[in-house]
Amino acid sequence: MKDKLESIKSQSIAEIDTVDSIQQLEEIRIKYLGKKGQLTQLLRGMGQLKPEERPVIGQLANEIRDMISEKIEETAYCLKRKEREKRLRNEFIDVTMPGRTKKLGNRHPLTKVLDEIEDIFIGMGFSIVEGPEIEKVYYNFDALNHSEHHPARDMQDTFYITEELLLRTQTSPNQVRTMEKQKPPIRVIVPGRVYRSDEIDATHSPMFHQIEGLVVDKGITMANLKGTLELFAKKLFGEHIQTKFRPHYFPFTEPSAEMDCTCSSCGGDGCHICKNTGWIEILGAGMVHPNVLENCNIDSTVYSGFAFGMGLDRIAMLKYDISDLRLMFENDKRFLEQF
Ligand code: DAH
Repeated sequence: MKDKLESIKSQSIAEIDTVDSIQQLEEIRIKYLGKKGQLTQLLRGMGQLKPEERPVIGQLANEIRDMISEKIEETAYCLKRKEREKRLRNEFIDVTMPGRTKKLGNRHPLTKVLDEIEDIFIGMGFSIVEGPEIEKVYYNFDALNHSEHHPARDMQDTFYITEELLLRTQTSPNQVRTMEKQKPPIRVIVPGRVYRSDEIDATHSPMFHQIEGLVVDKGITMANLKGTLELFAKKLFGEHIQTKFRPHYFPFTEPSAEMDCTCSSCGGDGCHICKNTGWIEILGAGMVHPNVLENCNIDSTVYSGFAFGMGLDRIAMLKYDISDLRLMFENDKRFLEQF
């Protein structure tokens, strides 16, 4: 019996030394110390021993059982520690690693310039209004004093929807819409999309953007027009910018003019942007035609006003030295990310 006990001892210890999981260890515990385990079975046979042998063998058996239990516990502890270390190694987070940055979008160059222009006019007491892109022929042409045979009315230039409806070719119809709704004093700007039947190239697009301006009050003169637009040009392009007004024709203003600015790129010396003239055309303007005021039931002997209109895309192209209008509408991130 003693030999058997010794062999259980050495065999179990050898087995415990080779385990590499808690589960294997548990199997060994059951194999030797479990209810039907080898050691337990052996102790059950103690009755067959001689009475004087029993305490000796009993003590030895207890010692061996304690030893095996202890060895199992120790091994379990080591295994658990190893497992924990392995898990921690796998879960290791390097808090010094650079984070993943979220890419923020940025404003479209047209939106940027529009925001800037709106701020300038808001600073001068203007408010911002908007109007429909599908417009009545009446507002786009008739009420704006276009003669019946004005070339702009031509199907070749204008997208008609019906005989009375079209895609607005200018933001000017909102002069009339505003004056119908609101009595003077009026100071508004109207940004928006406009449409013309143009072929697409570096400077033309069937859809582009304009900003209209309208001021109506008692005693408004050409001096107010010039002062307002000069200040606007300096705020937008810089204090050093100079302006000049050339006579022009628009059906809805009389007199009419176009405003040029000294080229902000070359300062007026001449370059590719101003086609070596030193000047750049910025907008059309004029004193609101009495017919237009009367079309809106505003007494032209009491009130006068000025109006102006500019191409937003063109201004953005000048401000950011963009050479091709098509870039504005292609949504190429390499282009858009530059602003
Ligand atoms: N609507 C004109 C155009 O599209 C621009 C314009 C010129 C607007 C003179 C005005 C103005 O209000 O007074 O060419």
